[in-house]
Amino acid sequence: MAKKTTKTIAFTNNKGGSGKTTTCANLGYSLSAMGRKVLLVDGDMQLNLSLSFFGEDEVLQFAAGEKNLYNAVKKEEDLTDYVVHTPYENLDLIPSSTLMSGIEFELFTKWQRETILNRGLKKIRESGVYDYILIDAPPTLGGWVMNILCTSDYCILPVEASPWGLFGVANMFEFLENVKKVAPKLELLGVVITKMDARKNYGKQTLEVLKEFSEVTVFDTVIRVDSEIEWAQDHSKPVMAYKKSARSAGEYLELAKEVDKNVRRSR
Ligand SMILES: Nc1ncnc2c1ncn2[C@@H]1O[C@H](COP(=O)(O)OP(=O)(O)OP(=O)(O)O)[C@@H](O)[C@H]1O
Ligand SMILES: [Mg+2]
Repeated sequence: MAKKTTKTIAFTNNKGGSGKTTTCANLGYSLSAMGRKVLLVDGDMQLNLSLSFFGEDEVLQFAAGEKNLYNAVKKEEDLTDYVVHTPYENLDLIPSSTLMSGIEFELFTKWQRETILNRGLKKIRESGVYDYILIDAPPTLGGWVMNILCTSDYCILPVEASPWGLFGVANMFEFLENVKKVAPKLELLGVVITKMDARKNYGKQTLEVLKEFSEVTVFDTVIRVDSEIEWAQDHSKPVMAYKKSARSAGEYLELAKEVDKNVRRSR
């Protein structure tokens, strides 16, 4: 089979609960359902991305065992052997560990600490197996998130349609501009508005304010509030696998088409 050019996308925003993990998991699943080969990387000690595909017992086993991202980064190892298959075709995962809470300390003692994840992913990229590597970042902006951004071609910024969701966005744009000094290939692929509640006017205002940042792409697809997302997460499934007819399943599929199109266009 022909080798693929692997594109890496980070999901980042230091505002907690903005929809990073939900977007990473569901976009990843939708891309895989479209036939793209996807590797998800759980970069957060909350283990939420891993919990989106595996039950609690399995996720805790990954976290307590050897094969998790924390151990790989600590030992500065190649990540190939850390990949596990999810129950879904075309969709693999590198699980996380609760020990990721101490990752900043581990990084502190290392040389060239911003590029450890990049070096760990090198062979996986060179293998040409994946179309996409999607990395879920924690709600912080320290050395670990720098690692995630330094290995990414793009980042997607999920923003919750709320006043405080909007408040942090300008700072994030500025932060990303600064990151580009050490991660020159990084590009903000776009902002995705999440948890839009049609009953509230504020959501529309979020969209209008974001459109004022003319140099930034705001994805046309808006992810609205949908309780099926939480039910799906409760069952350790992406929403499309849990309930295909759910509104958010359709929205994440639309977002995946937009993301895929924009990545192909910018290649
Ligand atoms: N469209 C949606 N409709 C309803 N609930 C949602 C939606 N998107 C996300 N949620 C819920 O909002 C909460 C936060 O989402 P999520 O965990 O994806 O955000 P996050 O940015 O990854 O958070 P953190 O910063 O803690 O990593 C979760 O409980 C999730 O179930
Ligand atoms: Mg998260």
